[in-house]
Amino acid sequence: MYVTTSIDDVRQHVKSARGAGKRIGCVPTMGALHEGHLSLVKECQRFCDFVCVTIFVNPTQFAPNEDLAKYPRPIEADLHACREAGVNLVFMPDNDELYPPNFQTWVTVSEITQPLEGAHRPTHFRGVTTVVAKLLNIVQPDVACFGAKDYQQQATIRRMVRDLDMPVEIVVCPIVREPDGLAMSSRNVYLSPEERQAALSLSNALKLAATRLASGDTDLAAIQQMMIQLMQQHPEVQVQYAVIVDPDTLHEVTTPQQHMVGLIAAQVGKTRLIDNREFLLPQN
Ligand code: PAF
Repeated sequence: MYVTTSIDDVRQHVKSARGAGKRIGCVPTMGALHEGHLSLVKECQRFCDFVCVTIFVNPTQFAPNEDLAKYPRPIEADLHACREAGVNLVFMPDNDELYPPNFQTWVTVSEITQPLEGAHRPTHFRGVTTVVAKLLNIVQPDVACFGAKDYQQQATIRRMVRDLDMPVEIVVCPIVREPDGLAMSSRNVYLSPEERQAALSLSNALKLAATRLASGDTDLAAIQQMMIQLMQQHPEVQVQYAVIVDPDTLHEVTTPQQHMVGLIAAQVGKTRLIDNREFLLPQN
């Protein structure tokens, strides 16, 4: 496994892998790798024979009041995990490599970035799309894998790739959960044991919604209210949103449709967590 901080190095390694007839895959991450990230690597290896993992805690997707400084950076453990997973190349640039002085070009996706995460974190998606566009330009992969936990993020990246005709296939991989249902996240390490317990209410709320919908309940407003109430039983949890939306537009749906997605964001103690679940109703 080759590890580099340099864009030129990445380009050279990818060029020689491609010259050797290999299909190139990319897994962009911010490090603090867990089973969820490793499932992306595994999925990427199904499609590609040369996989590049990028590790970069991207400052432009954090607001000034967010956790950029304390975001976990266990670099040795991350490199070990990549090596064990059979990753070919790790790109871990510093800030200046990706954002040189006088950097002033941004990529923005206008509509689906506005509600939900965009409403709570107004500069977040501009940072995500800009850095992902840069990483895809640098690595030029055939395939790039993203996790489904960041539902609005993957929808935004797919939109960007379609709108800008980027020559890459985006693969979205299922959420990986702890045995009790908590969605894996690099931020789970911040949770105290009590908060960890309270955080389970996010996936439980989505489970409750799935059960109500499967039983034929059509009152989506009432289901959303039940999700909120379930989470609010825990004083550690402050719900930011708990909604049922259309999977493509992310607009809230008022009457059930065949395919919907439940999206949740909540502050658990000082840690902000998100989770989601797709709902597929039987076709009439
Ligand atoms: O999902 C993440 O870890 C980040 O948002 C990403 C896609 C690596 C961009 O920094």
